[in-house]
Amino acid sequence: MSHTNGTYRRLLRYLRPYKKQIWIAVVGMVLFAAADGSFAYLMQPLLDGTFVAKDAAASVWVPLAILGVFLMRGVGGFISGYLMGAIGWKIISQMRRQLFEIYLSMPMGKLRKTQSGALVAKVTYDAQQVASAVTDSFTILVRDSLSAAGLIFVMLWWSWELTLILFTAVPLIGVLAVWVTRRFRRINKKQQQAMGDVNHQLNQTIGAMPMIRVFNAQRYVRDRFFEAEGRSLNLQIKEIMTKSASGPIVQFLVAITLAMIVYFASANTGLVEVTVGEFMSFLTAMLMLFQPLRGLTNVNASIQKGLVAAQGIFDLLDQPQEQDTGKDNIHSVSTLRLQNVSVDYAGKLALDGVNLDLQRGKQIALVGASGSGKSSLVGLVTRLLAPNVGQIFADDVDIQTLSLANWRQHLSYVGQDVLLVSDTVASNVAFGAEEVDLARAESALKAAGAWDFVSQLPGGMNYILDDKAQNLSGGERQRIAIARAIYRDADILILDEATSALDATSERVVIDSLKTLSAHKITLIIAHRLSSIEHCDNIVVLNQGKIVEQGDHLSLSQSSGHYAKMVADASAR
Ligand SMILES: Nc1ncnc2c1ncn2[C@@H]1O[C@H](COP(=O)(O)OP(=O)(O)OP(=O)(O)O)[C@@H](O)[C@H]1O
Ligand SMILES: [Mg+2]
Repeated sequence: MSHTNGTYRRLLRYLRPYKKQIWIAVVGMVLFAAADGSFAYLMQPLLDGTFVAKDAAASVWVPLAILGVFLMRGVGGFISGYLMGAIGWKIISQMRRQLFEIYLSMPMGKLRKTQSGALVAKVTYDAQQVASAVTDSFTILVRDSLSAAGLIFVMLWWSWELTLILFTAVPLIGVLAVWVTRRFRRINKKQQQAMGDVNHQLNQTIGAMPMIRVFNAQRYVRDRFFEAEGRSLNLQIKEIMTKSASGPIVQFLVAITLAMIVYFASANTGLVEVTVGEFMSFLTAMLMLFQPLRGLTNVNASIQKGLVAAQGIFDLLDQPQEQDTGKDNIHSVSTLRLQNVSVDYAGKLALDGVNLDLQRGKQIALVGASGSGKSSLVGLVTRLLAPNVGQIFADDVDIQTLSLANWRQHLSYVGQDVLLVSDTVASNVAFGAEEVDLARAESALKAAGAWDFVSQLPGGMNYILDDKAQNLSGGERQRIAIARAIYRDADILILDEATSALDATSERVVIDSLKTLSAHKITLIIAHRLSSIEHCDNIVVLNQGKIVEQGDHLSLSQSSGHYAKMVADASAR
């Protein structure tokens, strides 16, 4: 309960900057509610004055009053609706931005574990639900309570006896309303899950279309999709049924109360004495009362739903961020030393006591079987991972004591997964930089062997890549990523399988130009194809998280260790 209270209070904090607007909105709500009561009240002079008594003055002022009342209702409704709606959307926008910032600084391990679909839903759907729950509920609580109070006042004013009779019937309607809403909510929740399944199947299918076709798996995916879709349909039909049934049932209950009121007001029971106008005014108030009452019975559910969504969002916002406690800065890096570092993924040792020295002007290659820990080592150097044991020194400074932004200024990186954004080729090459130096981008593309095809694209470097750059070949995408690393021109260059999609000839070209460009850099190259790292100054062989050998190509291939075996295996193929 206190948990919910905390969430509630934290939500209210989002409203704080809008205090003034909210007060104006409340004034609008008061106008709106007062108009409702006044309209019901006006039914009395309308009938008794103009029709029954044929009062000439009433024939003039009553129509004018009706106009006035609706003007008031309109103005009040507009002010409160507009202000509260705008506040709601501003809160949604604020939450979306906060979540986005959190994603940008979430520790990578956490980010990998969380489903990206859930993270997307938080920004798109949940934020909207929270904010509308806050602002809509507020509107309902204030405006509908005031409206209901006003209308009940009008009813009591004309006949407290009839009001009393009426309110004996209210609990009955209340019980029914609660039943209908509960059923709705239950079905709705299941329906949302079913729709989620449908979305999931759809995403998977569309993403895997080439596989599905080639493997003749149409029937398999069709069955799964139809099943999920069928479940959604059944629930939808149940929902429609409840909705269609609830209307007539509620209306019939209203008819019963109406019949009761008519009976007591007209029969000679002697209990109630009212004029035609008073009766109509009472009746109007009664009928108008249903709307705010319905709002008020549902408001708790929508507040609860909003609180659940808010809790989810707050949990995410409270995540610890990427460790960035270091404050120091360095201006350049000429040596990098890994000292006894270990990486442990939840009990699984990916790197185990690794010691390694890297120097400016030297190219270091990292080889080893798939899963031997190469990318994990890159993760340590880029500080996407923190070592569980050990330290990394850049020119004798522990890199954990540096600010992340400062440390990463010295890094340039081509990863195993090439990530291009849907922007121009030039912006992709200058990725993250505020301004694009076109001449520099061009020479980077040339050095990466990408200029030939980029210059063929319509618009050249201004060509806008589409989503995930699907219209480029794998090797073309990779060359743009290499150009990006060259453009960056940092002290440390890391290539994790950066040339894996290139043919041997193009790879040769890229490697040669990298060799010249990075003559004064620390270069760390990971490759499965040994021919691409033969020239390196030091070749480090990793096996199950440990360094088992290092040396240059010649000495390693002449010894009879892991590397020599890898060379033999490669040439045997
Ligand atoms: N995020 C992670 N969570 C848990 N285990 C991981 C994670 N990333 C990697 N591993 C495990 O750690 C080990 C080393 O992985 P790593 O990615 O460093 O290997 P690699 O040498 O780069 O392999 P490859 O050549 O296939 O890219 C593997 O056994 C892998 O399953
Ligand atoms: Mg890897």
